[in-house]
Amino acid sequence: MKSSHALILVFLLLLLTWAGQVALGFFQVGRMEPILDEETNYPKPPAASGLAQTGARVFASEGCLECHSLSARGPTGSADLTRGWGPRRSVPRDYLFREPALIGLSRVGSDLSNIGLRVPETKDLMLHLYNPRQRNAKSNCPPHPWLFDTRLAGTGIENEALPLPSRDWQQLLPTYKAKALVAYLQSLRTDYSLPEAPLK
Ligand code: HEC
Repeated sequence: MKSSHALILVFLLLLLTWAGQVALGFFQVGRMEPILDEETNYPKPPAASGLAQTGARVFASEGCLECHSLSARGPTGSADLTRGWGPRRSVPRDYLFREPALIGLSRVGSDLSNIGLRVPETKDLMLHLYNPRQRNAKSNCPPHPWLFDTRLAGTGIENEALPLPSRDWQQLLPTYKAKALVAYLQSLRTDYSLPEAPLK
């Protein structure tokens, strides 16, 4: 083969890869837009708060993705929905306002795409982060005590102190990172209808 032919072949291969990886993806999801709810005029998916967006970075930096995915599959070919991991399957539009859009693959722990529906209470999520076995005695989720500060109780116990039996002169308070992470977890829910994924 002449060297010019080889060059053309390499170029065509690169073009094909680009078309498959970049162009096709762009045509499929590149111009996707949120849907406006006809009654309320709010967008679907709902936009996450700034605190929740910070929490997505805490989620990534703490390595939660090593064990948890953020995408419910099904109903065909997957038991996710019957396990109660979501009211419907997750679709690309759900991630429009998420930066970074974490999806994850690992299923060592449960899928968290709808943890905001399953465990909505701030105090339950805080307790789980501090020590998962406070909520579920057999939990294998690792504790994250470094997201909390032990402080003197001073004049009184603050509202956000964890409801744990501690000495009466000290209290356990969530750090900014813990609050952001919990806001992020609470924002994870797909209980809104989309044309490509209607709620049953
Ligand atoms: C080493 C693997 C591993 C890592 C890392 C991990 N988890 Fe888990 N997680 C699990 C397992 C296993 C369970 C299931 C046991 C349970 O329900 O407590 C779980 C359960 C949970 C639950 C309860 C789920 C439910 O359905 O009620 C939450 C919330 C959770 N993890 C959050 C987190 C967050 C946030 C992080 C990162 C800060 C994290 N996990 C990191 C393994 C992990």
